[in-house]
Amino acid sequence: MAKLFLFSPKLQPLLSLFFLIFIPSNVSSQSIETERTILLKLKQQLGNPLAIQSWNASSSPCSWTGINCTQGSVTAISLRNMDIRVKIPPTICDLKSLNVLDLAYNYIPGEFPKLLYNCSKLQYLDLSMNYFVDPIPDDIERLSTLLYLDVSANNFSGDIPPSVGRLPELRELHLDGNEFHNATYT
Ligand SMILES: *[C@@H]1O[C@H](CO)[C@@H](O)[C@H](O)[C@H]1NC(C)=O
Ligand SMILES: *[C@@H]1O[C@H](CO)[C@@H](O)[C@H](O)[C@H]1NC(C)=O
Ligand SMILES: *[C@@H]1O[C@H](CO)[C@@H](O)[C@H](O)[C@H]1NC(C)=O
Ligand SMILES: *[C@@H]1O[C@H](CO)[C@@H](O)[C@H](O)[C@H]1NC(C)=O
Ligand SMILES: *[C@@H]1O[C@H](CO)[C@@H](O)[C@H](O)[C@H]1NC(C)=O
Repeated sequence: MAKLFLFSPKLQPLLSLFFLIFIPSNVSSQSIETERTILLKLKQQLGNPLAIQSWNASSSPCSWTGINCTQGSVTAISLRNMDIRVKIPPTICDLKSLNVLDLAYNYIPGEFPKLLYNCSKLQYLDLSMNYFVDPIPDDIERLSTLLYLDVSANNFSGDIPPSVGRLPELRELHLDGNEFHNATYT
């Protein structure tokens, strides 16, 4: 039986060395197929909103409504005003490059979504105009990469925790239109 070599056998050890050195750095970034699978799962978990019917298996997620990519990875999701009525699924943080998340103008219920602590690159988070309730968590500084946070126009209550002041990179914060104690600005 003949053996087929793409390269001469002598070169093979050299080539394996090449792949050993150069492949792993590519593998560490998530493939777009993986990201499409994650987003299709997310779509289902969000209750298949009509506004994102364009999310389907036959196109690249980078071309979908509300999705932006940078260097072939999904970095931004904007599902603003898309009639979302369920809690944010933890699946969202499976997108390892997610940088921007805009969920404003929906009907998302429940407490502050601590599951977002697992989105390790998140810099921009807009949760304004939803149905969030209860106090902002004491450990919100775990969103340590945040530059921008908008939680305005929800029903967050209680005291504004000092942890908000410990968000190390934060540059812009919107808290207005909630039910916080002793809020002097409403
Ligand atoms: C997938 O979405 C594209 C638009 O992004 C649309 O043109 C196409 O018909 C859709 N395909 C299916 C199978 O729904
Ligand atoms: C995606 O990019 C476009 C064009 O730069 C921009 O207008 C839009 O706000 C971006 N969307 C998100 C979700 O970042
Ligand atoms: C982050 O993900 C891990 C592993 O899936 C999970 O055990 C943990 O509860 C998550 N953390 C938050 C704050 O949701
Ligand atoms: C938010 O607060 C308003 C006024 O206090 C109340 O009418 C409304 O039912 C609350 N919504 C939720 C989702 O808790
Ligand atoms: C908020 O106001 C109440 C009464 O007006 C006061 O007892 C309490 O100490 C205040 N809390 C803070 C954190 O300032």
